[in-house]
Amino acid sequence: MTVRILQYGATGQVARELLRQAPGHDVQLKALSRAEADLADPEAAARHVRVEKPDLVILAAAYTAVDQAESEPGLAHEINGEAPAAIAKACAEVGAALVHFSTDYVFDGRKGAPYREDDAAGPLSVYGASKLSGERMALAACARTTILRTSWVVSAHGKNFVKTMLRLAREGQPLRVVDDQFGRPTAAADLAGFVLAQAARLAAAPAGAPAFGVFHFANAGETTWRGFAQGALEIALGGAAPRVDPIATAERPSPAERPLRGTLDTGKLEAVFDVSPRPWREPLAEILAELTNEAPVA
Ligand SMILES: NC(=O)c1ccc[n+]([C@@H]2O[C@H](COP(=O)([O-])OP(=O)(O)OC[C@H]3O[C@@H](n4cnc5c(N)ncnc54)[C@H](OP(=O)(O)O)[C@@H]3O)[C@@H](O)[C@H]2O)c1
Repeated sequence: MTVRILQYGATGQVARELLRQAPGHDVQLKALSRAEADLADPEAAARHVRVEKPDLVILAAAYTAVDQAESEPGLAHEINGEAPAAIAKACAEVGAALVHFSTDYVFDGRKGAPYREDDAAGPLSVYGASKLSGERMALAACARTTILRTSWVVSAHGKNFVKTMLRLAREGQPLRVVDDQFGRPTAAADLAGFVLAQAARLAAAPAGAPAFGVFHFANAGETTWRGFAQGALEIALGGAAPRVDPIATAERPSPAERPLRGTLDTGKLEAVFDVSPRPWREPLAEILAELTNEAPVA
């Protein structure tokens, strides 16, 4: 059975990968841009669900400007909290399942070990708090909701940490990157591929099925932003890769506080969905090949 999907977001990293990969799956995907469905108006945005009556809704749009959210808490809460709530309510009304994305920034990073889904949340930022409220309200409004918390999303699209590192390296600029924040880089392509591969299961599963609830999805391997940058440069430039020097978060203050170790444990996802996210260097090589139009260097 072809799964009819209504997707919020058309231009973001994950949204673009969903659109790109959808033709390889038995799905019919309609994506709504911000012009078609502005999440800053949650009720108007949710009306699309009532009109389309899809099998599955994927909420791939969000307020993702982490630092800017500190000065726009109301808007961040509307887009990341109230909009998922309104969309989830509409999903429950029309019998659609919902996939919604969240973040490692719901945690304070002080656990000292990777976070499991049922660990206590403690966001340090407005962004993290807004995403946490969206998770909770979506789950409360629609029993057939799957929340996928992810981290350090990377792709060949949009503004991007990896692209910035490559540019600075090519310009011969000194590279100094934070080395005391730990996490798991995640390819938007892998996250999108996972969702599409599970679309039929999610669309068919009844409330209470193990596929619903909160899950962590991140590529395998914990690193720091410095380790991530160094890995990207080594894949892209091989022996010519410059050294990335470590700095502390305290040396680069930002408006929003980030968890120092928000690393996500993906054991629940692996058990319920029988998948193992691959090590982050593998999709990173594919992204760098796409960016440079060259064959990836192993
Ligand atoms: N990026 C990360 O490192 C990261 C980490 C953890 C979790 N996540 C979560 O993963 C999900 C996908 O993130 P991403 O990296 O793909 O995001 P992204 O590349 O920053 O894109 C955000 C998307 O949301 C849209 N959007 C923003 N405000 C909107 C509004 N008011 N109405 C409708 N659409 C709006 C944007 O549209 P425009 O192009 O029109 O602005 C864009 O399509 C989000 O839920 C995010 O919180 C991301």
